[in-house]
Amino acid sequence: MRSRIVWKSSYAFYLAAIGSSFGLGNLWRFPYVVGSNGGGGFVLMYVVLALLVGLPVLIAELMLGQSTQRSSTMAFAKSGSRNRFSHYFIWRSFGWLANAAVVLLISYYAVISGWVFFFFLRFLGGVFEFEPFRLSRTFSFLMENGWLQFGLCVAHLTLAGSIVSKGFREGLERWVGFIMPVFGVLLLYLVVQAVSLPGAGDALRFIFYPKFDNLSWESLIQVIGHVFFTLSIGMATMTVYGSYLREDVNIPAAGFRVTLLDISISLCSGMIIFPIVYTAGHIPGADPSILFKTVPLLFDNLRIGKFFGVAFFLCLYLAALGATIGLLEAGVCDLVDRRSTSRKSATWKLVALLSALAFFPAFSSSLFKTVQYHGMSLLQILDSLLINAVLPLVGLGVALTIGFGDDDAMRFKYFRDLDSVRPRWIYRQWLFILKYVVPVLIVSAMILRWIS
Ligand code: PHE
Repeated sequence: MRSRIVWKSSYAFYLAAIGSSFGLGNLWRFPYVVGSNGGGGFVLMYVVLALLVGLPVLIAELMLGQSTQRSSTMAFAKSGSRNRFSHYFIWRSFGWLANAAVVLLISYYAVISGWVFFFFLRFLGGVFEFEPFRLSRTFSFLMENGWLQFGLCVAHLTLAGSIVSKGFREGLERWVGFIMPVFGVLLLYLVVQAVSLPGAGDALRFIFYPKFDNLSWESLIQVIGHVFFTLSIGMATMTVYGSYLREDVNIPAAGFRVTLLDISISLCSGMIIFPIVYTAGHIPGADPSILFKTVPLLFDNLRIGKFFGVAFFLCLYLAALGATIGLLEAGVCDLVDRRSTSRKSATWKLVALLSALAFFPAFSSSLFKTVQYHGMSLLQILDSLLINAVLPLVGLGVALTIGFGDDDAMRFKYFRDLDSVRPRWIYRQWLFILKYVVPVLIVSAMILRWIS
C-alpha cells in the first residue's frame, strides 16, 4: 500500500479543518434555519448542542481517522472490528452512509455555491458599470434559469476537482490562511454596520432572547443535524483529515478551536442578516433565499457598497470552495484507499457523477418546480433528508464506534497531548458524553420527530 500523505504541520491541519467547517452552513443555512425555527430558542440550543454533541463527535471522528489511518468505509470497519460487539457489516455500513452523505450534500452544495458565484459576478459587473446590480431581478433571474444554475455548478465542481486531483494540500493551506482573516475582518465590519440599522434592536432580541414556544419537537433533530452539517461531521471529511494527521497532533484542542470559531461565525452571520430583515420590514422567513435577498440590501446602504458586495461574495465563494474541496477529498480518498485507483481518475469520475446528480437540485426552481413535499422544493427535500436522517445516523455511528470500540488505552493515547498531559477526568467526561449522552440525544430526537 502506498504511503499515506500527512499534513506538513498541525497549523496546516487546522487551516484545512477550519476551511472545511466554515462555509455555506454558517452564512446560508444558519440564518435560514434560525428564521424558520423561531429565533432565540433555536440559537441557544445550537450553541449548547454544538459544544455538547458536536465537539465530542468531532473529536471522535478525527480520532477515527487518526487511529486507523483510513478513509470512511475502511476506518469504520477497522475500528469496528476492534469492537466488543464486532459485526463487520454494521460498522462498515456507517462508512457507506457517510459516503452517501458526501454525494447527497455536494449535489446541492455545489448548486448554492454557483448562486454565490453568480452574485459575485453581478457585483463585479456593477463595479465596472457595465451592469448595474438590481437585486430584485438577480435572484429571480437565477431561479428561473435552471441551465445557468447547472452550468455554474458544473464549473464549480470542475474547479474543486482540479484542485483535489493535484493533491490539494498546499493550495488549500495557502488560501485558507489568507481568506479566513480577510473574511473575518469583513464580517466584523458588516456586523457593525448591520447592528446600527433601525431594525437591529428587534433583530437582536429575535436571535438572542430564547423563546421556546416557537420550537417544535422537530427542532431538536434540526439543531443536531445543523451542528453536524456546519462542523463537517458525518460526511467522512473529518475522518479523512484525521487520517492525514501525525500522531502527535492534539485532537481535542483542534476540535475545540474549530467548534468555537464556527459558532462565532454563525452568530456573526445572524447579527448581519436579521437586522437587515427587520429593517426591511419582513418577518424572518424560512427559505433558502434569505442570504441572497438580504445582504445585498446592506451593500446598497453603504457608500462603497459595490466593493463590499464583490469582496463579500468572493470570500463566501472561496469558503464554499474550501468546503467543497473537503467533501470531494473525502470521496476521492475513499476510492483511492479501497480501489487503489489513481487520485486523478478517482477525482474526475466522482466529479462526473456529482455533476449528473446536481442536475436535479439545479432545476428544482424551474423544470422540477412541481416536485414538492410539504411545501419543500427538491433542493430542500435533499437538505432535509441529509439533516434529519443521514447525518444523525452517521454521527451516532461515530459515537458508538469510538465510544464502545477501541480499548481505553488506545483512545486515551489519541486524546492525550504529548506536550501537556491532559487530565484524565476530561477524558472521562468526553467518553461518558460520547457513549451515553450523544446516542440518547440523537435517538430520542429521531424518535420524537417521527412521532410528533
Ligand atoms: N461545514 C461546511 C459548511 O458549513 C459543509 C461541509 C460539510 C463541508 C462536510 C465539508 C464536509 O458549509
